[in-house]
Amino acid sequence: MTDEELIKRYVAKDLQTQALAKLHEGYPVQYIIGDVDFYNSIIKVNENVLIPRFETELLVEKTVNYAKAMFNKKIDIIDLGTGSGCIAIALKKELDANVTAIDISFEALKLAKENAKLNHVDINFIEGDMTEKPQGKYDIVISNPPYIPYDGFVEEKVKIYEPHLALFALDDGIYFYKKILEYSKDILKKKFLLAFEIGSDEKNSLTKLLEEHYPNYKYEFQKDFNNLDRYLFIFSE
Ligand SMILES: C[S@@+](CC[C@H](N)C(=O)[O-])C[C@H]1O[C@@H](n2cnc3c(N)ncnc32)[C@H](O)[C@@H]1O
Repeated sequence: MTDEELIKRYVAKDLQTQALAKLHEGYPVQYIIGDVDFYNSIIKVNENVLIPRFETELLVEKTVNYAKAMFNKKIDIIDLGTGSGCIAIALKKELDANVTAIDISFEALKLAKENAKLNHVDINFIEGDMTEKPQGKYDIVISNPPYIPYDGFVEEKVKIYEPHLALFALDDGIYFYKKILEYSKDILKKKFLLAFEIGSDEKNSLTKLLEEHYPNYKYEFQKDFNNLDRYLFIFSE
């Protein structure tokens, strides 16, 4: 369905002219409609959160498959930089898990909490900084952190309308991976899975970080639908 068709279908008739004008200015259709489908969940979105991407659905799918193969007990998961809550909510629905989700943005968390309610799931939301070690021990640490270098390419529409807090990261985009990898062993249980969405040109710099922090562990970079390196999984065994 085209964006125009989506508006005609989901926006009230008396608001459609205004909505189409916004769309033609480049305003994202997802913010106009106010929600997206994400991995069998309806997730509300507004300008305080990144619009959940197809690539992130694939991160969830891969993580669910690994989790089902690795664990046969109730597990503890933490989602770092939860935004709309899409990853945390999808995992909570798919797995027998206690799910904690952190974001530094009060406004994003407000919406994430609404989304959890809307999807009838219970998630422990924490307003906090993911560069600092969170409390607790987890079987799965998952994150789709900001990963675009400040001088990296971003589509104009994304740059104008989506929150920069969700997009950009220092150190050529790898700042958050660095910080998380530094403390991750302290919050992981013996058997664990670390799952990241990554920038497509970050494989080499992340490999160096892995050599430093996880030299004796199995890890895999995996590709997205466009054959770009998009995921990093680190395994305890
Ligand atoms: C790329 S978005 C991902 C949002 C959501 N998990 C998704 O996949 O659609 C990154 C998120 O990290 C949050 N964030 C940025 N800096 C942070 C920090 N220092 N601590 C915690 N969260 C942070 C942003 O507010 C944003 O919601």
